[in-house]
Amino acid sequence: MSNRVALVTGANKGIGFAIVRALCKKFDGDVILTARNVDLGKKAVSQLEQEGLTPKFHQLDLLDRASIERTKSFLQSEYGGLDVLVNNAGVAYKVAATEPFAEQAEVSVRVNFRGTLDVCEVLFPLLRDHARVVHVSSMGSKMAIDRCSDDVKRRVKSASEQSTTDSIEKLLDEFVQAAKSGKHQELGWANTAYGMSKIGVTVSAIIQQGQFNKDSRKDLVVNACCPGYVATDMSSFKGHKTIDEGADTPVYLALLPPASDSPKGEFVSDRQIKTFWATLDICKESAEWLESCVCSVAPSLHYKPLIDRDFVKTGENPRLRA
Ligand SMILES: NC(=O)c1ccc[n+]([C@@H]2O[C@H](COP(=O)([O-])OP(=O)(O)OC[C@H]3O[C@@H](n4cnc5c(N)ncnc54)[C@H](OP(=O)(O)O)[C@@H]3O)[C@@H](O)[C@H]2O)c1
Repeated sequence: MSNRVALVTGANKGIGFAIVRALCKKFDGDVILTARNVDLGKKAVSQLEQEGLTPKFHQLDLLDRASIERTKSFLQSEYGGLDVLVNNAGVAYKVAATEPFAEQAEVSVRVNFRGTLDVCEVLFPLLRDHARVVHVSSMGSKMAIDRCSDDVKRRVKSASEQSTTDSIEKLLDEFVQAAKSGKHQELGWANTAYGMSKIGVTVSAIIQQGQFNKDSRKDLVVNACCPGYVATDMSSFKGHKTIDEGADTPVYLALLPPASDSPKGEFVSDRQIKTFWATLDICKESAEWLESCVCSVAPSLHYKPLIDRDFVKTGENPRLRA
C-alpha cells in the first residue's frame, strides 16, 4: 500500500517509453506505463519485460476524463498516493498535414495543454511529500512565445504570475478562437498550433510550482522541459537524439532528490534551466537543432532550411520573418 510509484503518460512508444525504461532502472518503486491504446500499452510492457524490467500497465487517455479518474482510483487503491508523474503524452501535426490551422490549433491545445491540465487536476491530490512532476513540453514553446506580439507576450507573462491556471487557460481559448476566425496572426498569436499549446504546458509548470510552494505537503516540485530533437514518430524519425537520450532530462527532473532547491517551476533543456522569456537564450541552442525543430513542429512557419549565422548570434532569422 505504501510502495512508491511513478506514472508516465503516452508511454507505449517514443520518449515516454524510454522514460519508463529509465525509471524502471533508477526509480525506487513501481513504474506505471500508461497508454490510451491497451494493446499498444501491453505490447510495450512486454517489450520491457524482455529486457528484464517490470513496469505495470494502466490505460490512460488524456481526452477521456473517466480514464484519468480510473487511473486515480487504481493508484489510490494500489499505492495510496503518487510519487512521480511524467506528463509526456502529446501530439504534433506533420509538416505536410492538410488539416486547417483552426483544427490543428484546437486539437493541439486540447490534447497537449488541456489534457495535461486534466491529468494534473485529477492526480495532484494523490501527490505525496517530495513528489516530482515533469511536463514534457518543447523548445517550440520558447520559439512560439518569441513570435507572439509584445501584447500577447505581456499577457502570457502576466498569466504565469497568477496563482491559478485560469488566465493561461483563457488565453489559450482565445488563441483557438482567433485561429477559427483566421485572425490569430493579426491578433498577435504565433502561427504554430503545437508551439502555442506547449506555451500553455510550460507556463502551467511555473504556476503550479507557485501552488506547490503553498501546499501543506512537503517539497512538491514541478518542472517543464524540452527533451531535445528526438527520433520518434512525432519527428518522423529525423531527430538526432535517441529516445533514451531524449528521456535523460525528464528522468533527471523526475528523480530530483529530496529538498532540491533547483530547478523548481522552471523550463529545462539538457538538464539546464532556460530563461523562458528571453529571446536571446534561444541563440545558445545549436543552429542544427533549431533548424530541425522549426521544420518539424512548426510547419505553418513555411520555413526554408538553412539557418543564418546571424540567427545564432542575434536570435533573428530573416528567412523566418520573410
Ligand atoms: N520528438 C521530439 O523531437 C520532441 C521534441 C520536443 C518535445 N517533444 C515532446 O515529447 C513528448 C513525447 O513525444 P514523442 O516524440 O515521443 O512522440 P510520439 O512517439 O508520437 O509519442 C507520443 C505519445 O503520446 C501518446 N498520446 C497522444 N495522444 C494521447 C492521448 N490523447 N492520451 C494519451 N496518450 C496520447 C501517443 O499514443 P499513440 O501511440 O496512441 O498515438 C504516444 O504514446 C511529447 O509531449 C512531445 O511534444 C518531442
